[in-house]
Amino acid sequence: MENSPNKTVSINVFILTLSLILISSITLSFLRSSRSPLPLPSITRSLDKTCNVFQGKWVPYPQGPPYYSNETCRLIIDQQNCIKFGRPDTEFMKWRWKPDDCELPLFDAAHFLEIVRGKSMAFVGDSVGRNQMESLLCLLAHEAYPEDITQNSSADKNYFQRWFYADYNFTLAAFWSPFLVKSGAADMNGLISIYLDEADEAWANEVEKFDYVIISVGQWFFRPLLFYESSRLIGCHICNQNNITSISKYYAYRMAFRTAFETLLGLKNYTGTTILRTFLASHFENGDWDKGGNCGRTRPFTSNEMKLQEFNREFYSVQVEEVRKAEEKGKKIGLRFEVINATEIMWQRPDGHPNGYGRSMHTNAPVYDCVHWCLPGPIDTLNEFLLYLMKKQVPDQIV
Ligand SMILES: *[C@@H]1O[C@H](CO)[C@@H](O)[C@H](O)[C@H]1NC(C)=O
Ligand SMILES: *[C@@H]1O[C@H](CO)[C@@H](O)[C@H](O)[C@H]1NC(C)=O
Ligand SMILES: *[C@@H]1O[C@H](CO)[C@@H](O)[C@H](O)[C@H]1NC(C)=O
Ligand SMILES: *[C@@H]1O[C@H](CO)[C@@H](O)[C@H](O)[C@H]1NC(C)=O
Ligand SMILES: *[C@@H]1O[C@H](CO)[C@@H](O)[C@H](O)[C@H]1NC(C)=O
Ligand SMILES: *[C@@H]1O[C@H](CO)[C@@H](O)[C@H](O)[C@H]1NC(C)=O
Repeated sequence: MENSPNKTVSINVFILTLSLILISSITLSFLRSSRSPLPLPSITRSLDKTCNVFQGKWVPYPQGPPYYSNETCRLIIDQQNCIKFGRPDTEFMKWRWKPDDCELPLFDAAHFLEIVRGKSMAFVGDSVGRNQMESLLCLLAHEAYPEDITQNSSADKNYFQRWFYADYNFTLAAFWSPFLVKSGAADMNGLISIYLDEADEAWANEVEKFDYVIISVGQWFFRPLLFYESSRLIGCHICNQNNITSISKYYAYRMAFRTAFETLLGLKNYTGTTILRTFLASHFENGDWDKGGNCGRTRPFTSNEMKLQEFNREFYSVQVEEVRKAEEKGKKIGLRFEVINATEIMWQRPDGHPNGYGRSMHTNAPVYDCVHWCLPGPIDTLNEFLLYLMKKQVPDQIV
């Protein structure tokens, strides 16, 4: 269905996000792969390190990237398994991102696994970050399947996942932390307390040994929230209590990233690369998530068809400002910060969401999800960017 460009796009997706956040447990006994890794040739691969890969456009790619399907990847959860649940159109899987001045290479699973041999990678953030990790699991699936070692760590399986690629000694983890900072449970009025100057221990106590930490959060900052600093209530966002100062969500978003980056900079033994994956806006049209809102487009936006709204752009700007500050500090102590500049790029893909062709993990009912992304789909591109950035770091272009 085509919608008028001027229709309101809903911002209020937090309860949907909440409802989608719990992670379904996947039966994993069959996942261990016996496939042995390829030997490691030293392949010279040239990479244009000066090109801005984030400047470009989506172009048709009629055959679709040769990655995986709902049949070949056994790790797609129902929430994002759009083809399994009958999504009829397939064009959304047949586009690639084309930078103006160079090529974004196809995802090369063997190359990725060479780079991460003996290393570890963590996705820290909300369920959209987990969605990207699940895309990565599928992108790697034709080279190797991991063992689920979630149970080996003490973390709560519903919110945290740990995978181990034995043939590569590579650990991949997801730490669920929708605010990055410490938060409490919702109170009677549905208000969640968040502590802007205290990192969420759920990830902060875990990431020190990780080689790559990919950070992203977003939709939860649209909720009604109470903000604390130095353990004192300093204000709130849409809390509807006139004795509490109103504070903008952008301030809270900024402080959450500042606290997260400062925490990483301050971890004594952390030597990893931190990668900010910038905010991904939702694509609800024709109403809020709970008022008939949906995202039924089947093609990317053409340029200028619908602009990213200002409030979404503000989230992007705030986090990029904070990561740039962290990058400066990091340089002095040898810590790298990188950015997957995805906000605008993914905004152009309203066709990439389940929109009813996914199942809620709780009720097994269809939900109009315009926040998460179908697998396969445009979210796979985020991991093409990820690998691109990882390759860029490898000296001498020899890996
Ligand atoms: C893949 O999707 C098709 C529908 O296109 C469905 O019939 C099939 O059962 C799905 N396969 C798996 C393994 O879920
Ligand atoms: C596996 O990788 C970890 C670091 O992630 C390292 O400490 C360990 O020594 C490696 N094990 C082997 C057998 O190479
Ligand atoms: C995880 O725990 C299982 C069962 O205790 C054990 O067999 C396996 O070796 C552990 N894996 C790792 C990577 O620690
Ligand atoms: C605001 O007022 C409500 C009652 O109207 C009260 O329960 C709450 O404690 C007050 N909050 C502050 C920070 O004073
Ligand atoms: C950092 O690593 C050193 C040496 O391995 C260890 O002694 C120390 O306890 C570690 N510090 C922290 C904060 O984990
Ligand atoms: C991110 O990409 C947008 C265009 O998509 C561009 O305007 C912006 O400058 C880029 N930001 C960074 C930090 O590269």
